[in-house]
Amino acid sequence: MTEYTVEFVGTGEEITVSEKETILSRCLEEGIAQEYSCRVGMCLACSAEIVDGDVVQPAARGLTEEERDGYALTCMARPASDLKLDRGKYPPSIEAAGSADAAGDEQAAADD
Ligand code: FES
Repeated sequence: MTEYTVEFVGTGEEITVSEKETILSRCLEEGIAQEYSCRVGMCLACSAEIVDGDVVQPAARGLTEEERDGYALTCMARPASDLKLDRGKYPPSIEAAGSADAAGDEQAAADD
């Protein structure tokens, strides 16, 4: 089993993650405060920008094809090399999801 080092830039946090486990599951085991919600690759809450390295994340359905090279959904992503991740960065499509929610809230308010 191959293990890789995952460093979270700007935090001083570093963990070892095997090629067979997700980055999020290892974060939770190590007490690292990685955000998450759905844990099925859809909500983008667990996203991190890939500063350096590669991940395997075939089930990261919430990311566009263009975003898959630059972002990891840590609930789905397994390391394919040593990694540097920025946990504070989200892909552009999260803005569209937020706008859709806001529009829904406005519609709900108008219906009241
Ligand atoms: S927790 Fe929702 S995409 Fe990872």
